[in-house]
Amino acid sequence: MKIVKTIAEVRAQVKEWRAQGLTVGLVPTMGYLHEGHASLIDASHRDNDRTVVSDFVNPMQFGPTEDLESYPRDIDHDAALVEAHGGDLIFHPEPEEMYHDGFSSFVDMTVLTQELCGLSRPVHFRGVCTVVSKLFNIVKPDRAYFGKKDAQQLAVIRHMVDDLNMDIEIIGCPIIREADGLAKSSRNTYLSEAERKAALVLSKSIFLGMDMVKKGESNCSAIIGSMKKLIEAEPLARIDYVKIVDCATMQQITTLDRPALCAIAVYIGSTRLIDNFFTEDV
Ligand code: PAJ
Repeated sequence: MKIVKTIAEVRAQVKEWRAQGLTVGLVPTMGYLHEGHASLIDASHRDNDRTVVSDFVNPMQFGPTEDLESYPRDIDHDAALVEAHGGDLIFHPEPEEMYHDGFSSFVDMTVLTQELCGLSRPVHFRGVCTVVSKLFNIVKPDRAYFGKKDAQQLAVIRHMVDDLNMDIEIIGCPIIREADGLAKSSRNTYLSEAERKAALVLSKSIFLGMDMVKKGESNCSAIIGSMKKLIEAEPLARIDYVKIVDCATMQQITTLDRPALCAIAVYIGSTRLIDNFFTEDV
């Protein structure tokens, strides 16, 4: 397993693999890797001859008041995890390698980004689409792996690949949770002991929503109302949104009459956490 910091080194390595007729999978990450990321690396290792993991805290997808500076970083820990899960190369660039002086081209999306996290984080998806496009151009993978944990991001990437005719298969992977239900996230490290306990309201409300759908509830406001009530009972929690949207458009719906995504974002103290379920996975 190798760690490289330049685009030229990634290209040289991938070129060598291609010359041997090998397939390549890409797992884009911002590092501080946990079992959620590991599941994507496992999936890529299973499907491809070689796996590249990018490990880059992308400044462009953070808003001015967000946690870019404090975002956790630990490349030694990441390297051990990637190696243990069969990854072959980590691309760990400095921001200047990705965004040279005078950088001025962006990939923006006018649909799918107007709801959910796109509303609370206005520059976020432009930053994600731009960096993921760059990673696709640098690595030129056969397949790329994204978690359903970031359901809107997965939908946005699929749409971008389709709109811009990128010849890459996008694979969505299930949410990996802690034993008590909390979805794994690099941001969980921000939580104090009391906040960590309080954060369980996210997964509890997701499981409640799933249960209601399983039992046949199709009225979105009934499901959202019950989920909100559960979250609001936790004093350390503050709801950003609890919404049910059409999977294809990310627009809110009132009745579960098509494949839908139920997504939540909740502040626990000052930490913003997300969770979700797809009705077709219930
Ligand atoms: P990051 O938050 O590091 O996540 C990298 C990938 O891991 C994403 O596809 C995310 O959905 C997946 N992931 C995170 N937690 C997960 C969990 N508990 N279960 C399953 N998958 C999980 O998402 C980003 O980075 C960035 O926006 C990126 C795509 C790398 C662009 O900068």
